[in-house]
Amino acid sequence: MSLMALIKGTKGPSGFGYASTAEHVTAGLDLTGKSILITGVTSGLGRESARVLAMRGAHVIGTGRSAEATRGVLARFGADTTAVACELSEPASVRQAASEIANLGRPLDAVIFNAGIMALPKLQQKYGYELQFFTNHMGHFMLMQGLMGALAPGGRVVVVSSTAHMGAPKGGIQFDNLSGERGYGAWSAYGQAKIANLLFAKELARRFEGTGRTANSLHPGVIITNLGRHLNPVMKFGFGVASVVMCKDVHQGAATECYLAVNPDAAGVNGQYFDDCNVARPRVDGTDAETARRLWDASEEIAARFP
Ligand SMILES: NC(=O)c1ccc[n+]([C@@H]2O[C@H](COP(=O)([O-])OP(=O)(O)OC[C@H]3O[C@@H](n4cnc5c(N)ncnc54)[C@H](OP(=O)(O)O)[C@@H]3O)[C@@H](O)[C@H]2O)c1
Repeated sequence: MSLMALIKGTKGPSGFGYASTAEHVTAGLDLTGKSILITGVTSGLGRESARVLAMRGAHVIGTGRSAEATRGVLARFGADTTAVACELSEPASVRQAASEIANLGRPLDAVIFNAGIMALPKLQQKYGYELQFFTNHMGHFMLMQGLMGALAPGGRVVVVSSTAHMGAPKGGIQFDNLSGERGYGAWSAYGQAKIANLLFAKELARRFEGTGRTANSLHPGVIITNLGRHLNPVMKFGFGVASVVMCKDVHQGAATECYLAVNPDAAGVNGQYFDDCNVARPRVDGTDAETARRLWDASEEIAARFP
């Protein structure tokens, strides 16, 4: 048996592993009466997670850049769903989305911060901040700010990070270079945004201690999705090769976020980083409580610019 086949067949302590799918990790669950928010349901892992969780009976509140496109995707599932427009790089849109979701009056049993962009070849900014940091981290940070009161007592927050957080700059976050102007690399900026996802979940988990609410982050695997849309041809080739070697399909890619959001065995798990539906070890500065706290404070300061 090849090494890859061995890895693909391996299951961890959770009983799930590399090859588990979102349907496997939710098998037998009746999620009727649960409300689950997922960002970025118009494509890839978000769309698959929304499909499976809706199929299990949850009321899925899905976000996308436009309400129309999001509604179009969710309508295909033939379930009771809510579509909300949320352009994560536009604070006004994020604030509006948070207020729309909070006003639904449905306590959120789980929130999956899934949407993201990857490896923009050239520096792009929004409001003076590097776009991947601003979209992947700040967009979700501000959404969470508006949804703290809407989270159910045992609500679970699931933040989709990536093993690409390993490529973040030394120390994790370059607090003196959030604009990207003092040096930019496509993968280090993506890595910084993804370690920010991880540190955000870490600090959220600390703040949730003793409340029954939880926050965790994860790497979903390597899956060919629209995430590669910003890659130049050379990067696309490299990503394609990596995907073939370590390839998960979208059903497997959505498993870990669905596991953390709804599987009973993940209830009460707080402040962990998951890979293949099992606890994994992130880069050491991705677990640094002081950096997590500092990122939270910096994010609050940035968010305050956009009341
Ligand atoms: N695929 C992988 O190999 C892989 C590996 C590690 C981590 N991840 C992470 O997994 C998550 C999902 O990725 P995916 O592979 O499913 O990618 P995808 O197919 O490109 O889906 C990303 C989703 O995010 C949305 N989105 C992007 N920019 C947005 C913005 N500014 N405002 C609102 N929504 C926005 C997209 O909306 P549109 O459809 O409108 O663009 C789409 O719904 C991401 O956080 C990614 O970093 C993926």
